[in-house]
Amino acid sequence: MSDHVIALDQGTTSTRAILFTGTGDIVSSYQLGHVTHTPHPGWEEHDPMLLLSNSKQCIDMCVSEAGERGVLLSQIVAIGVTNQRETTVVWDRRTGQPFCNAILWKDARTSTTVEEIASEITTRQVIDTTGLRPSTYFSGVKMRWMIANVPGVKEAVADGTAMFGTIDTWLVWNLSVEAAYVTDVTNAGRTMLMDIRDRKWDKTMMDLIGVSPAVLPDIRSCSELFGTMRDTVLKGVRIAGIIGDQQAALVGQACFNVGELKNTYGTGCFLIVNTGEEPKFSNHRLLTTPAYQMGPNAKCIYSLEGSVAVAGAVIEWMKDKLDFINHASEIEALASSVPDTGDVYCVPAFSGLFAPRWRDDARGVFTGITLSTTKAHMARAMLAGITHQVNDVVRAASEDMGADITELRVDGGASVCNLLLEMQANITGTSTTALGAAFAAGHAVGLFQSEEEFAHHWAADRTFTPQITEEQRNTELCKWEAAVERSLGWTKV
Ligand code: G3P
Repeated sequence: MSDHVIALDQGTTSTRAILFTGTGDIVSSYQLGHVTHTPHPGWEEHDPMLLLSNSKQCIDMCVSEAGERGVLLSQIVAIGVTNQRETTVVWDRRTGQPFCNAILWKDARTSTTVEEIASEITTRQVIDTTGLRPSTYFSGVKMRWMIANVPGVKEAVADGTAMFGTIDTWLVWNLSVEAAYVTDVTNAGRTMLMDIRDRKWDKTMMDLIGVSPAVLPDIRSCSELFGTMRDTVLKGVRIAGIIGDQQAALVGQACFNVGELKNTYGTGCFLIVNTGEEPKFSNHRLLTTPAYQMGPNAKCIYSLEGSVAVAGAVIEWMKDKLDFINHASEIEALASSVPDTGDVYCVPAFSGLFAPRWRDDARGVFTGITLSTTKAHMARAMLAGITHQVNDVVRAASEDMGADITELRVDGGASVCNLLLEMQANITGTSTTALGAAFAAGHAVGLFQSEEEFAHHWAADRTFTPQITEEQRNTELCKWEAAVERSLGWTKV
């Protein structure tokens, strides 16, 4: 009887548990969505208790479904956690109660905190130490805001009863018998508190944020024994993997060699390129971040990342707020019902622009609207807005790596949209290849013995090649730049 592993994927819009066989096939999965609270413009929050209860329910339901397919509980040997990164929780060590909702990675409330930080430390120093740049995006900035604004947190930090964590830490502390207070390098690397070279909490950064090691988890590798499941049907099963979801996707795309890269179309878009065993710093405003470390004694592999704040979220917005579509899958038909955007451009800077511009003060714009503009043009322009942002980070990565990027491996929810991938291939001038199946979290729990074995499972599903001329592409790029200019500085007007 073969061993199976279960991956818990706690993401921005939903939580999923997926059970894999020892050869990486999916046996069963179960998914639950959750609400994002938006109490004020630019604020985005999750209820940590709901994320926890959904995680438990997904595990139970996924295992029960597998049981119906003949999988025995005893065959499930490990669980791995992969998660939305940067989203931050602070809770009371004694009661386990969060002091407030989790602040989402794309929450923009901390722009004033970023300005304060910028007056106390140079951007260069932050980059040199952490690989990141001061931005509303990172957990440490959210921690500093919580300390200053959430009743009780400052005192709890002072007396060591506060616990800060990203979602992996929150879940593993709650799910494990040992109440393991741990994180992995890929999540710690997104806090703006970790020294990118030695992968330990950095004193200067901790002082800047106002925290000490007492209120931060231990930083571990991605693949080791973190604890043992306390409840759910998996009681007694080893928690053996933690990896941020975007790094999990890099592993899932079998990008194990220097220069290999993937782009994930999630709520945002995240392009990550493997840069090998030493941190490589960007000249084009990409982030330096751990890609994976598969075991406490394994070398840490680093990467450059181009993070785009808003991508798939645009499609959700069209569905939930604009009523353009009833289901996300309808976007393709709507946007394909017109041959082009009718010269309409959309910059979906709903919570500012991340890489490569890093402008917290940008907000979303549509330009070029006329009386003949229809919903279909706007929908197509929104998809184009996603592809332009990805193109900006692809170009930055190409400059940093000193090599042309000819193939873009893609995955994530929105990558099912063929039109989006066609448009991506056109604007980037690269072939765009979607992955056939997801193996990411399975690797984090040691499902595969070697990278070669794992890479063997990677199979292209759909490939798109550029269909427009260089001249057409250049015109598009010029117009996009002009549209971006219009989005910048809006919160300061
Ligand atoms: O950095 C944020 C990222 O990890 C979120 O990913 O897939 O939950 O949108 P996703």
